[in-house]
Order: sequence, then C-alpha cells, then structure tokens
Amino acid sequence: MVTQTDSIAATSAKSMSNGGKVLTAVTGGIGLGISIVCASFVAPAFRRFCLPYVPSTAEQVRNVLHFIPRNSAVRVLDIGSGDGRIVIATAQHGVKYSHGVELNPWLVWYSRFAALRHGVYSKTEFICKDLWKFDLKPYDYVIIFGVEQMMNELGNKLISQAPHLKVIACRYPLPNVKPLATIDAGLNTVWFYNLSENNPNSQRS
Ligand SMILES: *[C@@H]1O[C@H](CO)[C@@H](O)[C@H](O)[C@H]1NC(C)=O
Repeated sequence: MVTQTDSIAATSAKSMSNGGKVLTAVTGGIGLGISIVCASFVAPAFRRFCLPYVPSTAEQVRNVLHFIPRNSAVRVLDIGSGDGRIVIATAQHGVKYSHGVELNPWLVWYSRFAALRHGVYSKTEFICKDLWKFDLKPYDYVIIFGVEQMMNELGNKLISQAPHLKVIACRYPLPNVKPLATIDAGLNTVWFYNLSENNPNSQRS
C-alpha cells in the first residue's frame, strides 16, 4: 500500500497547486496526513483502511464532473474530501448542495476557507466525521477517491445503506458492481455506477 500511495502522490505532486504545497507543509507532509487519518479510524473493523490525503489532479476533477449534471439541485457528497477541491469544483459546476466528509480537522478547516475564497461557501458544507459512521442516504451522488483495500467494504456500505445512489469512483473501482460508464485510463480512470440499476426494487421513493 505504501508504494501504491507513493506513486499516486508522485503523480499528483506534478499538478499540485500552491495551496496543496502549503497544505502538505502544514499537515507535515503526506506521511503525517496518513497517520492522522488512520489514528482517527475508531471502528475496529475498519481500522486497517486508511484514506490518505492525496490531492486529485485537474484531469481527475474534470472526469468526475463529466458525470454530474450542471446547474442542478442534486446532493453530492465527496467521501474523504481532503483539501476540498472536488467539493469546490462541483459547487462551481452549479451543484446546489456540495458536501464533503473528511476526518482530518485541519483539512476540513482548510476546505471551508478555500470555499470562501472561491465564492462558493454557501453551496458547500464540510463535515468532520468518520465516513464509516456517516449517513449517505440524503445524497444523490457520492464521489470516492478510494484505496484498493477499502473498496469492498465501501461497496457493501453503499449498497446496503443507500441503494439509490449514483457513485463516481476514481483510482479504484467498486468490486462486484457493474459500472454504467468508464472514462480515461490509469490513475485518471473514473467509473460511474447507478446503484438503482443493480437494485431495481430498492429505489428511494
Ligand atoms: C439510474 O437508474 C434508474 C433505474 O433504472 C433510472 O431511473 C435513472 O434514470 C438512472 N440514472 C442515471 C443517471 O443513469
């Protein structure tokens, strides 16, 4: 996992903004970012799964937005929202409710400040909470930049808790769910799932 994360980090570093560099310095680098997040995972069953702070690239953000309708009243949640750039991007895309859940309080505060700076504060919300305890039901779209080890558990949580969701996954696909569409390749790959299609009887009314 360490080597995998390192290679992702190396790719992301190339396109890291100044904000990202400052933030990496503030959080003591990606290594410390990971340990903060891991230490905060309190649910014993999930303690092993860490969602590292690795900033998404401009290409990845573009690919994610491809699947979200512009200027719509949908509710979008970014799981492990990091420095908030995806949430800010969906808000700029015209999504009325752009939320992020992130365990690292430094990143949550940074995200709120960044949303304010980009003029989308009122459309965004950043919640400092463990994603495994977070209620996904209110959302229409969930965005996840995952790590391979957590995708199975996460897929189960999504299907059992919010079978109406549209899921946009980057870096790793959800196992056992057939994507409706896939774009790009390598680290920029984005998979789009419509869980309702897999569960025709369990749509939200
Ligand atoms: C998802 O699937 C449901 C049920 O088949 C369908 O009504 C809905 O339009 C689909 N949404 C998208 C974005 O594909």
